Amino acid sequence: MAIIGIETSCDETACGIVDSKGNILSSIIASQIDTHAPYGGIIPELASRAHLINIHKVVKEAIIEAKIKLKDIKAISVTNGPGLAGSLLVGLNFAKAFSLSLDVPLIGVNHLEGHISACFIEEEKFNYKKNNIFPCISLIISGGHTELVLMNDYDSFKMIGQTRDDAVGEAFDKVSRILGLGYPGGPIIEKWAEKSERNDYKLPRAWLDDNSEFSFSGLKTATKNLAQEKIYDNKLKDHEISIEIANISNAFQQSVLDVLLTKSVAVAEEYNCETILVSGGVAANGFLRRNFENNQDVEVIFPERKHCTDNGIMIACRGLVDYLAGNFTDEPKEINAMPQLNFL
Ligand code: KG4
Ligand code: ZN
Repeated sequence: MAIIGIETSCDETACGIVDSKGNILSSIIASQIDTHAPYGGIIPELASRAHLINIHKVVKEAIIEAKIKLKDIKAISVTNGPGLAGSLLVGLNFAKAFSLSLDVPLIGVNHLEGHISACFIEEEKFNYKKNNIFPCISLIISGGHTELVLMNDYDSFKMIGQTRDDAVGEAFDKVSRILGLGYPGGPIIEKWAEKSERNDYKLPRAWLDDNSEFSFSGLKTATKNLAQEKIYDNKLKDHEISIEIANISNAFQQSVLDVLLTKSVAVAEEYNCETILVSGGVAANGFLRRNFENNQDVEVIFPERKHCTDNGIMIACRGLVDYLAGNFTDEPKEINAMPQLNFL
């Protein structure tokens, strides 16, 4: 049997398929990077239109790659928020029609629960019962979210704190734009930072009074001011500009890491947790992964890099849990495209 996972909350049209044991059967992702890159960020209206064009092809391809028949499909799970309303609606309405036509349950999945589920995939198998890691702290870092969540069990989420302004991925994207680099900013800033040979540009860290709260908008402005001082106010040669971009990227990334790591460890200690799960697109960052993994205070679990950014597999995995627990109804009242966090 197979569970379908459909994800269209932002700028990836994705479909993943798992079997009853959590084995990954297929994963297809249609990226919209080329559509949004010229604007340096996501244009919601263009995102929904691209989902509309891609959704059918992506789901069909995933079914072919999984080598399953339509009669093998036992449930359709789909992201029902948070996300861009127009984007969510495309996936939701496709999933509704698909589930009706197959006469199988429709399971609404919270996007953030999906990201967290990716931490439990190992060697192409979703295995959420394997480790006794609870209670643990879950740090979700993506383009739209920066959140610390206490998990007492796989199904128990308590919001501890979040960002007061920009999400961390959003800050990466905006800094990339400030430096005249491309979109999405995260992987690009990471590459530039690797080229840096100095570490003495100091950017601020927003510690705030509360360990569980974040703020990245001041860091973004400070990075902009530093770029103005070091690059835009000077007449530099191309190779000198490259050196400055690398150094500023490095300083920015270092500041983000310091805050995320220090605060996550402090919150884990406060709630007597020995494990931190780190998920969301920014969790793909190699510098961040190395530094979190090298810390001596807590155990850290990351998804594989390829499962960090938005994908359908994470939605199928979360859908499988609800399916096996019988957590669905014939009248899925919870299936709404509400673009806010509604699971805590
Ligand atoms: O989870 P995700 O795919 O979509 C949302 O739910 O938002 O996260 C996308 C975000 C983007 O802001 C992107 O710049 C960031 O994740 N990202 C990274 C890296 N790869 C993606 N940030 C830092 N380093 C990376 N390697
Ligand atoms: Zn996401």
